[in-house]
Amino acid sequence: MKLISIVGSPHGKKGSTARLMDEVLKGATSAGAENETIVLKGDTVLPCRGCDVCHIKGACVQKDDFVRILGKINASDGLILGSPNYIFTVSAQLKAFMDRCCGVLHCQSFTGKYGVSVVTSGGGDEEPIASFMNHFLISTGIVPVGSVWATMGMIQGDEFPEDIQHKAFDLGRNLVDAFNRKIIPQDVKTRMDDFHQRMKNLIMYRKDEWPFEYDYWLENHPG
Ligand SMILES: Cc1cc2nc3c(=O)[nH]c(=O)nc-3n(C[C@H](O)[C@H](O)[C@H](O)COP(=O)(O)O)c2cc1C
Repeated sequence: MKLISIVGSPHGKKGSTARLMDEVLKGATSAGAENETIVLKGDTVLPCRGCDVCHIKGACVQKDDFVRILGKINASDGLILGSPNYIFTVSAQLKAFMDRCCGVLHCQSFTGKYGVSVVTSGGGDEEPIASFMNHFLISTGIVPVGSVWATMGMIQGDEFPEDIQHKAFDLGRNLVDAFNRKIIPQDVKTRMDDFHQRMKNLIMYRKDEWPFEYDYWLENHPG
C-alpha cells in the first residue's frame, strides 16, 4: 500500500501532529505500507480562488504545490491527514488543501483509496475535528478507517502515553488491512453512497457549465 501523509502544521515534522502521525506510520509500515510525508509548510497550498476553472477544465490555475501533491495522492492507495486543533477546527493550511480539492469531491476522484485522520490539541475538542476530517475523506471517495488524537497539555515528556501509542499503531495496521481486504463498514458505505449520488446529481444538473466534470463522470463512473 502506497500512502501519502499530509501534515497541516507549521511545526512540520517536529510538531506534535507529525509525531503522533509517526506512531500511525509505524503501524502502517509494519504491515507493509510505504509512505511519503508532505508538510504544508515547505510545500505551499494557497486558498481556493473560487474561479470554477477546475470544474470547467479540470486544472487549477494557481501555480503552487497543489497540483504536484494531487498527482502524488492520485498515484497512491491511501491518505493520512494530520492537523493541529486551530480554534476548534483544522489548521488554515489543511483547510486550504481541502478547499482546493473541490473538484476532487465533484469527481469523486479518490474513490478506491483508504485513509485515516490524526489530530493534536493543546487542551481538547479533537473528536469533532477528526470527525470532520473523516467526513472530508468520505466526500472525496476515500474510505475512512478511523482516527487518533492526543491532548498535548495532558502529556508530560516527549513520549505519547502507551495507550495513545497503541491506538495509533493499531490504526496504521488497520488502515493497511482494510485496504488489502477492501473492507467498508456498512454505515460508512451508506454515507459514501449517499455523497456519491449527491455529486452525481450535481454534475448531471450542471453538465453544460462544468464540461470537464461531466465528461469525467461519464468516463469514470458509468452507470
Ligand atoms: C493558532 C493556534 C490555535 C490553536 N487553537 C487551539 C484550540 O482552539 N484548542 C486547543 O486545544 N489547542 C489549540 N491550539 C494548540 C495546538 O492545537 C496544539 O499545540 C497542537 O498540538 C500543535 O500541533 P503541532 O505541533 O503539530 O502544530 C492552537 C494553537 C495555535 C498556534
